Amino acid sequence: MNSSSQSSDVLLAARISVRYGDKPAVLRDVELDLRTGEVLGLVGQSGSGKSTLAMTILGLLDRKRAQVEGTIQFLGHNLVGLSESELRELRGRKIALVLQSPLSSLNPALKIRTQLKEAWKAHASGTAPECDTAIENALKSVSLSASDEFLRKYPSQMSVGQAQRVLIAMAILHRPALLIADEATSALDVITQSEILALFRELNRTTSMAILYISHDLASVAGICDRIAILHEGQILELAAAQQVLTNPQHEYTQRLMAALPRVPQPQTVSPQSSAAAAGRK
Ligand SMILES: Nc1ncnc2c1ncn2[C@@H]1O[C@H](COP(=O)(O)OP(=O)(O)O)[C@@H](O)[C@H]1O
Ligand SMILES: [Mg+2]
Repeated sequence: MNSSSQSSDVLLAARISVRYGDKPAVLRDVELDLRTGEVLGLVGQSGSGKSTLAMTILGLLDRKRAQVEGTIQFLGHNLVGLSESELRELRGRKIALVLQSPLSSLNPALKIRTQLKEAWKAHASGTAPECDTAIENALKSVSLSASDEFLRKYPSQMSVGQAQRVLIAMAILHRPALLIADEATSALDVITQSEILALFRELNRTTSMAILYISHDLASVAGICDRIAILHEGQILELAAAQQVLTNPQHEYTQRLMAALPRVPQPQTVSPQSSAAAAGRK
């Protein structure tokens, strides 16, 4: 949530419809603009089309089954029209993805160092020391140790929170302009979840990388987004400043989402006099 998020520079402009096979469209006339440096929350219940939107942006939809109509403008390209090799060039370098289950996204048979090196080499051709420096910097920015001891670990030797940090480090190695986090904290326990959310916010603040933060859970995105888009059955119902969506939702569906948020019951406040009186009554 840095100052650049106030600017209206559009980093990505999607105008798309997507259908799988001959079934009804899963995304219908979706219009979504992401501004440079902003954190945009994309919230909707399971099946609303969130991952389909992420995969369309990344060009990872099954080309045989999925039909995409429309355009996605990003850094001078229309992503919808790019070839597989052009997309591969952008993926991981300009647009990165972090998914839900860190342990299954990492290769269990390879040390962390090897996986980070491979991710670096996919888009860079520098020297070994340059690679080490990039890895060290990325690990530092996700508050992980770049020690030899840590880099020699296998995924199974890490906590799930550490594994998610490694994946985020991998995603930001090439300083992408856009990070897509698809339910990136949904599988984590609440404490790890809030730490990783804080990390995303910190990364956005320090690197001005834009983040498309996808979640089924409005409560979890509330604290980190500049704006929130509500997706329902393949359509964006509402897209506004996070504060507005949370305090003054316009669409009836968003109002229902807000009403369904769990609230922590407040303990009854007991004034000193009343507790003294209660003690006296015993
Ligand atoms: N590869 C696929 N082939 C056919 N239908 C799919 C495919 N992927 C997703 N869908 C359907 O598209 C809809 C949206 O799915 P998805 O984008 O995964 O939603 P979300 O991420 O919001 O849970 C669902 O009805 C789902 O069944
Ligand atoms: Mg999904």
